[in-house]
Amino acid sequence: MTDGSHGLSARINEVREQAIEELKSVSDGETLRDWERKWIGPKGEITSMLRSLGSLAKEDRPAAGRDAQALRSKLEAAFTPVQELIERQQMERRLAEESIDVTLPGRRPDIGAAHPISAMIDELIEIFAHLGFQAVFGPEVETGRYNFDLLNIPADHPARDVWDTIIIDDPAAEIVMRTHTSPMQARTMERLDPPIRVIVPGRSYRYEAQDASHEWMFTQLEGLAVDTNITMTDLKGVLQELARQLFGPERRVRLRCDFFPFVEPGVDFAVDCAICNGKGCRVCKHSGWLEMGGAGMVHPNVLRGVGYDPEKYTGFAFGLGFERLVMMKYGVDDIRAFNGNDLRFLKKFATVTI
Ligand code: PHE
Repeated sequence: MTDGSHGLSARINEVREQAIEELKSVSDGETLRDWERKWIGPKGEITSMLRSLGSLAKEDRPAAGRDAQALRSKLEAAFTPVQELIERQQMERRLAEESIDVTLPGRRPDIGAAHPISAMIDELIEIFAHLGFQAVFGPEVETGRYNFDLLNIPADHPARDVWDTIIIDDPAAEIVMRTHTSPMQARTMERLDPPIRVIVPGRSYRYEAQDASHEWMFTQLEGLAVDTNITMTDLKGVLQELARQLFGPERRVRLRCDFFPFVEPGVDFAVDCAICNGKGCRVCKHSGWLEMGGAGMVHPNVLRGVGYDPEKYTGFAFGLGFERLVMMKYGVDDIRAFNGNDLRFLKKFATVTI
């Protein structure tokens, strides 16, 4: 063994001790990488050791080479478990940081609910479905022909003044916001043949000063039945059933003469007050009755206007206001609340979630 190989084996021992010692104080990924670079990396201590083999005497090279390789294996073997440990620690730390507590109660989202008018529309569609009526919907912008003419309200008829109409654009063209859902009577009869049983829930508009009981936009429900042998009794039966479904089985309906150009005879209809059983209270303004709307037998002129033979067919029609109905049912005392967008009001009806 030459001096040179002595020097190398001393160096190997030194490197081993120092490297192992340093490995003990490695505590994170960064110092581990430094350690790897310094000792076993491609530019590390072992590599330079192997490069220096050339300066040894030829016969010493194989043994020295083996020793150096053995040292590399030893250092790599020592390195691996430390690397694994540090990686595991890093992973655990990340998991701890990123973990979520699934037992924590979530933030409750604000769940919307059907508007009281929409809920009432759904309720009425359901009630009338059981009576054989189908719901149809029509345009809110109408022509004078459907809103007035076909309803037996000619241009010079004084009844035309009954509705204060919101007119769209050119008054001569008579494009109006429909003042009631009745235009759907003619539209439906033009499209279908008897027997007809439809209801028309929808918005109507009148040019009106607002107060606690008047709105310029409101919701109506139109009803129309046309067939052979339809009589006033059928009308009363349907209205009676409606009142009972809405306000309970005890309710009675009252019909009184009234005038609407598109019905003959015409009536207004009321239901006895469910709050006081007809005795008189604040809700029914001490009359015992709650006014619901207008109704009557479809006027022969209306039937003729859509090409029906009034000798063959008869029918009844009725119209009622939704807002009034909901106000009566839930004791709301200001119609403006419906479109006021005050959540405190709307949430009181939040039983139907959508
Ligand atoms: N359209 C009438 C109104 O708005 C109500 C009504 C409908 C009356 C059908 C009779 C028949 O006042």
